[in-house]
Amino acid sequence: MSAQIAIVGAGYVGLPLAVAFAEAGRNVVCLDIDQALVEAINRGRSHVEDVADETLAGLVDEGCLRASTDPAVCAEADAVLLCLPTPLSTNREPDLSILEAAVRTLADQLRPGQLIILESTTYPGTTREVLAPILEQGGLVAGRDFHLAMSPERIDPGRRDWTMKTTPKVVGGLTPACTERAIELYSAFAERIVRVSSCEAAELTKLLENIFRSVNIALVNELAMLCHRMGLDVWEVVDAAATKPYGFMPFSPGPGLGGHCLPIDPFYLSWKAREYDFPVEFIELAGKVNQHMPYYCAERVAQALNDQAKAVRGSSLLILGVSYKSNVGDLRESPALKLIQLLREAGADVSYHDPHVPNLASESIDLESVELTDEALQRADAVCVVTAHAAVDHARVAEQARLVVDFRNVVPDRNGKVVVL
Ligand SMILES: NC(=O)c1ccc[n+]([C@@H]2O[C@H](COP(=O)([O-])OP(=O)(O)OC[C@H]3O[C@@H](n4cnc5c(N)ncnc54)[C@H](O)[C@@H]3O)[C@@H](O)[C@H]2O)c1
Repeated sequence: MSAQIAIVGAGYVGLPLAVAFAEAGRNVVCLDIDQALVEAINRGRSHVEDVADETLAGLVDEGCLRASTDPAVCAEADAVLLCLPTPLSTNREPDLSILEAAVRTLADQLRPGQLIILESTTYPGTTREVLAPILEQGGLVAGRDFHLAMSPERIDPGRRDWTMKTTPKVVGGLTPACTERAIELYSAFAERIVRVSSCEAAELTKLLENIFRSVNIALVNELAMLCHRMGLDVWEVVDAAATKPYGFMPFSPGPGLGGHCLPIDPFYLSWKAREYDFPVEFIELAGKVNQHMPYYCAERVAQALNDQAKAVRGSSLLILGVSYKSNVGDLRESPALKLIQLLREAGADVSYHDPHVPNLASESIDLESVELTDEALQRADAVCVVTAHAAVDHARVAEQARLVVDFRNVVPDRNGKVVVL
């Protein structure tokens, strides 16, 4: 059966998007280079928490969704959506090599009339200046022989109140006709579509959203450090400010930014801005403050131990939550990794519990999640809450632990043994 839609990259973005189209009655094929992932999808096994196995298996059984490692599937599709990683290089510059390689393969099979859409987060100009020339190498012209558009993914893994269907979809095409084609495609499931005038506007919209979060988180993180020095409770202050019915939006301080987006995306814009002799200082400053947070949190753990006449060296520390955000198992860029590394370098014996992350293997860490027994809580010199998962009973943590250092303000302090960021 020929596929109507091909999704290239079946990760956190691609798989839920494939499911949204398949549930809307479209025939979808996911193209991925990861053979094991492709086989799992075809068996109805999801690697993304937001997609339940039963949902995926149902769509696979009905024949609406399948996965493949064969790039030829794109030739059969009416629309090809690119959901590929856009990381930073080791020099913290945009690394579009994965995207460019996939687009080169796609260019070999491009057919007149196809619609190509970029969903990956990237700097303004990528679709027009990078993708279009590669796709045009076979002689077809973008905007004339095939349609090209940009529609940034806005998924927030783990979120239930806003879904792929209800979150408005921003769409900007290379030409007005490209925009129309893309809008028509997304109207299969999106309840609201926001048309912007160009691919560049769509690309920058996504970056603005993430930079807005990064800058505001940096602001409250800096305030948290100041509040500690001033003997004030930053959480109380943020909560009080949030009672203003207009003109204020609360952000929470924490141990630092994580995930595939916030620590990375802003630097796509700062890199592009250099081309225009325009240093974007908010982005750099926010990056600096947020990157410092795991170091600051390690200092706060040391201080809390010191107040109990203990040193970090030789202490037994239990980290609660290592993924970068609540209720998911995603470890990418998680500040917990940096914090664990710093505490181990200072001589602590570090273990962790995370119901979503059974094993932790990074460059310098190789640990398994310990069971959250009363004994484990009592044994630790300090329990550090880095990520708050709903599956963890934080009231029990408060009861059983000897000392808690809480970077998320979730542990009720009934007996004065909780230190909060
Ligand atoms: N994860 C999020 O919450 C989120 C939210 C919004 C936007 N984004 C953006 O979406 C894009 C994708 O992110 P993600 O989190 O889904 O990444 P991911 O790593 O979860 O998934 C990417 C997939 O692409 C596959 N892949 C790599 N090279 C390929 C190739 N040449 N051909 C086919 N498949 C290939 C990988 O095997 C992987 O399965 C990024 O630009 C990201 O910034 C992510």
